[in-house]
Amino acid sequence: MSWKAAVITVSDKGYAGKREDTGGPLVAEMLRQAGYEIAYASIVPDEREMIERELIKTADELDIALTVTTGGTGFSPRDVTPEATVAVCQRLAPGIGEAMRYESLKVTNRAMLSRAAAGIRGSTLIVNLPGSPKAIRENLAAVLPALDHGLEMLRKEQRDHAENG
Ligand code: MTE
Repeated sequence: MSWKAAVITVSDKGYAGKREDTGGPLVAEMLRQAGYEIAYASIVPDEREMIERELIKTADELDIALTVTTGGTGFSPRDVTPEATVAVCQRLAPGIGEAMRYESLKVTNRAMLSRAAAGIRGSTLIVNLPGSPKAIRENLAAVLPALDHGLEMLRKEQRDHAENG
């Protein structure tokens, strides 16, 4: 069975149609290649409330196993994706951000400037990625192989229930 995934692009310019969103499709492609089914994708501006609403929708309405955001993790005043993520999660998963920064620091010292967070809302894992395609590739590759085991643990009860009727 493949996990259902959602991809949320957080970008003022992408939302306004002023820049083609290449980040979202790249995340989707990497997830697909890792065996995920992309069940939902959207673009939102760097507005904390709108980001929170999208994250809540993927967890509470769409029953997504893995929601990945891209963009809005840096230091510019409008970068609020980590704050929105932490606000909607009941439990944090700091190791995912740590692993991304650990691997990314081998490539660029600017990796420390990504404030990407990760956490769990209900039975949905939410993971932030930075916005540039290069950063997406490097950060997602660093954590993707381990996520499957986390989702297995997160969704074990649901899965056992489904198997046993
Ligand atoms: N991580 C990797 N692996 N490769 C990168 O090129 N860019 C960094 C960082 N993380 C980068 C990276 C830079 S320059 C910034 S500003 C932060 O991610 C935040 O990016 P964001 O504002 O697009 O979310």
